[in-house]
Amino acid sequence: METYDLTVRGGRVALPGALVACDLGVRDGRIVALAERLPAGTRDVDATGRLVLPGGVDGHCHFDQPTGDGSRMADDFLTGTRSALFGGTTTIIPFAAQVRGQSLRAAVDDYHARASGKAMIDHAFHLIVTDPTPDVLTRELPALIAEGYTSFKIYMTYDDLKLSDRQILDVLSVARDHGAMVMVHAENADCIAWLTDRLEADGKTAPLFHAASRPKVIEREATHRAISFSELVDVPILIVHVSGADAMEEIRRAQSRGVSLHAETCPQYLFLSEDDLAGPGFEGAKCICSPPPREAGNQAAIWQGLATGVFSIVSSDHAPFRYDDPAGKKLKGEDASFRWVPNGIPGVETRLPLLFAGVAEGRIDLDRFVDLTATAPAKMYGLHPRKGVIAIGSDADLVIWDARAPVTIAQADLHSACDYTPYEGITVPAWPEVVIQRGAVLAERGRLLAEPGQGRFLACDRPAPARPLGARRPTTLFRADEA
Ligand code: URP
Ligand code: ZN
Ligand code: ZN
Repeated sequence: METYDLTVRGGRVALPGALVACDLGVRDGRIVALAERLPAGTRDVDATGRLVLPGGVDGHCHFDQPTGDGSRMADDFLTGTRSALFGGTTTIIPFAAQVRGQSLRAAVDDYHARASGKAMIDHAFHLIVTDPTPDVLTRELPALIAEGYTSFKIYMTYDDLKLSDRQILDVLSVARDHGAMVMVHAENADCIAWLTDRLEADGKTAPLFHAASRPKVIEREATHRAISFSELVDVPILIVHVSGADAMEEIRRAQSRGVSLHAETCPQYLFLSEDDLAGPGFEGAKCICSPPPREAGNQAAIWQGLATGVFSIVSSDHAPFRYDDPAGKKLKGEDASFRWVPNGIPGVETRLPLLFAGVAEGRIDLDRFVDLTATAPAKMYGLHPRKGVIAIGSDADLVIWDARAPVTIAQADLHSACDYTPYEGITVPAWPEVVIQRGAVLAERGRLLAEPGQGRFLACDRPAPARPLGARRPTTLFRADEA
C-alpha cells in the first residue's frame, strides 16, 4: 500500500478552477496524491469543514532592505517570514536593492547573507536596479537573470532610486532580450518635489499632506509613460502597487488595445484611505506609504479592477517601520514634515485575510482569490507550477482555512517586529489555521513550529520568452503551454 509522509484529509481543496472535496497525500515535500479517500499518512491533518488552499506567494515585500536615510526596517528575514507564514504566505519575493555605485552582484550576495539562517519560508529575490551602468546592462543583469533573478524593480521617483527615461528604456531593453520581468514604481518625481516644496512653504507638513504631495494624476502620468516605454521597447511590464482609479484606467485602456501589461494592487488601497493619514498628532505617519491610500470612494474602483481582471496580482508591499522608534516613522521627530517620514507600512501577515474578506462579501470568487494571491504571482515570477498551485508534483505548500471563524485584527496577535498594524480593529472572516511548507507543518492554530533557516532560496525561471529585437509580435507573458 502507498504510504505518505503527510496527509490532509476531509477538506475542500482549491484545485485549479474547482473546489473539490478530496484528500491530499504528500511524499518528500511534494503532492503525490489527490483522491476521494486516502489512508492516513505518518502525519495526518484533519481538514474537515475547512478549505485547503495553496500557500500564498507574496511577490512584493521588503525585509531588511538597506535604506539610505538612516532609517531601519522593522523586519529582518526571521521576523518577516514568521509574520508571513502566520498569515498563510509560504513564498516571499523581497528585493535585493543595488545602492548606486554598487555592483548588482554585491547587492545579491549581501541579501543572501541577510536571509541565511533566518528565513523560515521559501524565498526568491527581485533585484532593484538603481545604477544601470554599461557593465550592469551588458554583463551583470544577463548573468543574474540566467542564475534565477529574473525580475527587477525600477523607480520613477525617490532621488536615490529613480531612473531617467533613457535609463528605463535601457533596462526594458535588457529585459526584452533576456526574458525578464520589470516591475515599475510609477510616480512622477518632479511633480512630487514641486508639490512638496509648495505644501511645505504653506506650512502643510503634517502626515496627511503626504497624500496631497502625490495625487492620483501624478501616478496616472507616470503609469502612462511607463506603458508607452513598454510599447516602444515591446516588452511586458508590471506596474506595481497601483493605488488610484486613474492609473488603473490607463492600464485598462492599454490592455484593451492589446498591450501585454500587468498590474498589481495591495490591501492598503482596498482598506485604507487618505483619511487614515489624518490621525491624531503624528499617528497618520503609520499609514504613510507610496503611492498613498486615496479617497474612500476609490476603493470600490480597485475592487472592480480585481473582479474584472485589470489586476493580475495582489501583494502586500510590506515595508515596515516601527512607529515608536527613532530609526522608524519618527526618524526626524514628530514635528518633521511628511517628506522625512520613511515610506511603507506592514502588511505581509494581513494580506490574505484582508483579501479573503472580498470573497466573503462576494466581490471576488475563491478561484480569483487563489489566482491573485498565489497562482498568478508564481507564474509572473517563474515559480509555477512548483509554487502557487495544488497539483500533483507541486511543492506541498498548503494553508488550511476555517472560513467560519471571524477574527478581529489586533497588533498584539501579529508576528512582525513592527509595533503597529494599520488594520487594527478590522474584522476579517477567516484566518489560516494550519500552514504547511513542503509537507512540514510550520504553524498550527497560532503555534509556531518552523525553525529559522528552514526556508529555501528559489531560483526563478524566466517568466517570458526572450525574442530578438525587431521581431515585433503580440507579447505573451507565460510559456505557450501555460497561457
Ligand atoms: O511606501 C512604500 N511603498 N514603500 C516601499 C517601497 C516601494 O516603493 O514599494
Ligand atoms: Zn514602489
Ligand atoms: Zn514596495
